[in-house]
Amino acid sequence: MNITAYPGKPLTGAAFLPGDKSLSHRAALFSAMARGESCLENFLVAGVTRPLLDALSALGVSWDLVGTTLTVRGQGLESWRSPQIPLDCGNSATVLRLLAGALSAAGIRAVLDGTPGLRRRPMGRIVEPLAQMGVPIQTAEGGTAPIELSARPASQSLRPTIYRLPVASAQVKSCLLLAALAAGGPTTLIEPGPSRDHTERMLRSMGVKVGAQASPGDPENPYAQAVTITPPSPLRLAPLRLVLPGDFSSAAFLIVAALITPGSDIRIKNAGLNPTRTGLLDALASMGAQIEINNLAERSGEPVGDLRIQHQPLHGATVDGALVVRMIDEFPAFAIAAACAQGVTTVRQAAELRYKESDRITALGQELGALGVAFQDMPDGFSIQGGEPVQGGTVASHGDHRLAMSLLLAGIAGGKPVTVQDTDIISESFPDFVGVLGELGAELHASG
Ligand code: S3P
Repeated sequence: MNITAYPGKPLTGAAFLPGDKSLSHRAALFSAMARGESCLENFLVAGVTRPLLDALSALGVSWDLVGTTLTVRGQGLESWRSPQIPLDCGNSATVLRLLAGALSAAGIRAVLDGTPGLRRRPMGRIVEPLAQMGVPIQTAEGGTAPIELSARPASQSLRPTIYRLPVASAQVKSCLLLAALAAGGPTTLIEPGPSRDHTERMLRSMGVKVGAQASPGDPENPYAQAVTITPPSPLRLAPLRLVLPGDFSSAAFLIVAALITPGSDIRIKNAGLNPTRTGLLDALASMGAQIEINNLAERSGEPVGDLRIQHQPLHGATVDGALVVRMIDEFPAFAIAAACAQGVTTVRQAAELRYKESDRITALGQELGALGVAFQDMPDGFSIQGGEPVQGGTVASHGDHRLAMSLLLAGIAGGKPVTVQDTDIISESFPDFVGVLGELGAELHASG
């Protein structure tokens, strides 16, 4: 399916978002590791969560999904049975990496695999530390999926470890924290910058001791942070009762759309506002945007609130350092804001963007270039000379949901329509993207 976005209409009104992707993955998986019935409301029902639910079934875990409420009847990790066929993680590196951690703790044999796109993503970053902890695990040649975990005797716990992550990554951190539940003592992970902390918050609410502190002894990096997990003995996790907040990473598209479309004034209700996720708000503020936050509260262990966004002029800015990981999924949408801002916007220390659902630096350069945006590709980021009207045209999604949604924003705010090809991938994380933007007044038409 192709979608064409037409310019000209201001966005007004209020929007509710689908449940947070990172929290949905974690809540479903951790519930399956717990003992008792967990109830998760506003669960993200989308392409990206389906492989995880199917994997739970293959592991012998019972669950029901009614609307967006997921009930999981966990019986502890010891009830998981070894799946007879490879677990298909679809396109999701989060599913693969979180499952690898949980399966390492369970100590059962399993193979983890996924789409050709997932098979390109680097897995050495979890496999090397897991092997150091004593997990019998192997990748395909080149350090990619499929990944094979062998069974471990139930009596054999994993090695407590101090491990320094070369790159800040919540997926890697979470994988290792889950594996560390089966270690014979505390494990400490040191990250170059604090990545999203949903795993730490959720495990704490399930009764696990998880501490975080600024990491001493790293004069080169003032942002380094250490997380220490002490596995409960015996390993028991309490079930969850959560209402999941709206996904800030989905809100990002609406925020940028409203900021760059003249006459817009929108509200986004019940958005997750965990500070490890909201770097985009800081980046946009440094470009001159004033975004109102109302009704800030803590719900189910996570900060949530409402946002009000009005069209505003933006100017160029620089994004680097610890801010990068706090907005790691938002760079495609941010690039559209940069294209509409006056002056130069520069992103540095963001080489991780090359290892997402697409190489987002190369893909953004190709597609924004095709729309007439002056884009400079750099090894660890990019710069955009903004302020010229974005030209119309037809661009490719590169099989990347966030790239597809972002390029449509260029059509909404630019001078001419933009058609994005192969947009079915949007249903991975935001199935009603077109409907939500349409309700706010945007003109988007699907064809093919
Ligand atoms: C995620 C962590 C991030 C992010 C991804 C979701 C998570 O990946 O890009 O969409 O849920 O832990 P990295 O840990 O690879 O940065």
